[in-house]
Amino acid sequence: MNAFRSIEWLDEGIVRMLDQRKIPRETVYNDYTTHSEVAQAIKDMVIRGAPAIGAAAAYGLALTAHHSQVADAETLRAELADASNVLARSRPTAVNLFWALNRMNDRIADPALDSVVTLQKATLAEAHAIAEEDVAINKAIGKNAQSLIPQKATIIHHCNTGSLATVDYGTALGVIRMAHELGKDIFALLDETRPRLQGGRLSAYELKEQGVPFKVIVDGASGHFMRTLGVDLCVVGTDRVAANGDVANKIGTYNLAVVAYENGVPFYVAAPTTTIDMATKHGDEIEIEERPANEITHVRDCQITPDGVEVGNPAFDVTPAKYITAIITEKGLVYPPFNETLEKLMG
Ligand code: MRU
Repeated sequence: MNAFRSIEWLDEGIVRMLDQRKIPRETVYNDYTTHSEVAQAIKDMVIRGAPAIGAAAAYGLALTAHHSQVADAETLRAELADASNVLARSRPTAVNLFWALNRMNDRIADPALDSVVTLQKATLAEAHAIAEEDVAINKAIGKNAQSLIPQKATIIHHCNTGSLATVDYGTALGVIRMAHELGKDIFALLDETRPRLQGGRLSAYELKEQGVPFKVIVDGASGHFMRTLGVDLCVVGTDRVAANGDVANKIGTYNLAVVAYENGVPFYVAAPTTTIDMATKHGDEIEIEERPANEITHVRDCQITPDGVEVGNPAFDVTPAKYITAIITEKGLVYPPFNETLEKLMG
């Protein structure tokens, strides 16, 4: 498995994931053979990031099909429907999870798949297709973004949106990586991203390996750097884009967008079209996941707050469309008014 690939299928019916909770201190791969284990791995954030969660759910269904002992296609379909419901309950905000399950379920429903073996093969082939398409989509996002990235640029990035958050390459971090690979003089400021530190741990790990110059900053420092250092742009990923252009992303994205707006810094959102949810009219309709209190009260095993304090731990926030300069997709750049341009893009 290449160093940053988040997930892989092994022919003996195993899904292997790089355990992102342990990076950068340890590189550990976990093997899974059931959809319930995959659902738990998504909940526990062994794998995280919207596109990676979608691919994991697809492979979760492929595991159920592969290991099934049933004798006929209809019974296998019933098993897969149960598995799909379990996977759908793993995390609520990233629409890629539901998009991938819907795509898998459409394939599974094909009446031409009339035996256990044909259904098993088709389920795995569809999961592979979702994973491989994701890598190609990310590279197309990286290319499409380049007209927005000056030859020399200081860029703020939030959370982790790289190879680890996708199947490989990455969306917003992929944009930064590609700019660097193209020889641009890029300096990244990585928000550490409290409380799970996806920026300080994961994005820093990726950019360090790729040789992209960067500094890790605390989330509250972005305004200071915009005023003092001069920041050319911000680029972030997203877990769901609503039809009006509101975007849900890692908690703190909204603050960053408002500060960027106030300082006249362009704010770009990199999103595969699989993250655009035209059925969600605006950001207030997006379910925001609430994570356990110990993510805030503790750093690893060390308690940092007084005993018994109340904690609010929303994993995501919604950035209203008015703060977003453009959305970068694999199909091209999308500008305001997003309710019109997204409609056109998504057909
Ligand atoms: O809670 P996480 O780590 O799954 O949140 C991830 C993010 O918010 C990413 O920015 C988003 O999924 C886009 S990843 C290409």
